[in-house]
Amino acid sequence: MKFTSSSQELKSLLKSEQDKGKSIGFVPTMGALHSGHLSLIKQAQKECDIVVCSIFVNPTQFNEKSDLEKYPRTIEADKNLIKNYCDYLFAPETAEEVYGDKIELIEFDFGGLENELEGEFRPGHFQGMANVVSLLLKIVTPDKAFFGLKDYQQYKIVCRLVEIIKLKTEIVGCTIIREENGLARSSRNELLSEKGREVASVISYTLNYIKKYHAHFSITEIQEKAKAMIQGILEVEYLEIRDAETLKNITSWENNNGVFVSFAGMIDGVRLIDNIRF
Ligand code: PAF
Repeated sequence: MKFTSSSQELKSLLKSEQDKGKSIGFVPTMGALHSGHLSLIKQAQKECDIVVCSIFVNPTQFNEKSDLEKYPRTIEADKNLIKNYCDYLFAPETAEEVYGDKIELIEFDFGGLENELEGEFRPGHFQGMANVVSLLLKIVTPDKAFFGLKDYQQYKIVCRLVEIIKLKTEIVGCTIIREENGLARSSRNELLSEKGREVASVISYTLNYIKKYHAHFSITEIQEKAKAMIQGILEVEYLEIRDAETLKNITSWENNNGVFVSFAGMIDGVRLIDNIRF
């Protein structure tokens, strides 16, 4: 695996790969890599000749400065984890390397997708994320870019982003990787107590319950029931049942583009998210 922190160097390395006719798969990350990220990288390996991973803790997608400062930076461990699966690792050391001299954010029109669900709790987060993804995609110019479906709203926004900025990159959504007990993999799981990690399995249990039994209930009924199943074990921030395309509220189980159930909640002072679609 070749490592670079320079966008210019990365561009010229990738240009020579593309000149040889190689396809490029890209996995953007913020580091603190775990098996969930590795599964994206392995998916990229399956589908493309060359795999590029980036590690950049993007300042513009954090609402709290303290969150940005606290964000785990584990570059040596990250390199070790991915070195056998990835061809190029791009880890810029400064924001200037990605944004240029001055950080100027573009306000993309995602038709309100960015204000639903996570957007309500993290104002500006998705615009910051989209800005950095747009810049990274322009540096890497991949054929395909791989995103985890645990961040389904992010995935939908990135799909819209490539249409807006007219890039040919195909956005691939990859299945959620779970612990044995069903808990969705996340860097944040490391911060949970042993007990917390065990009981947080109630999230995926409840999401699966909704999928299995939804037809017996109205949307409001099952939403209340599901919240009650989790509340007391985790502090529920939201559990929303939405249209899988628009992310807007639905009023019936029919007449939608698929059902998307999205959860966010806290345990051990750690915020966890998860979702299911059917
Ligand atoms: O999902 C993430 O890790 C980040 O939001 C991303 C896509 C790397 C942009 O900073």
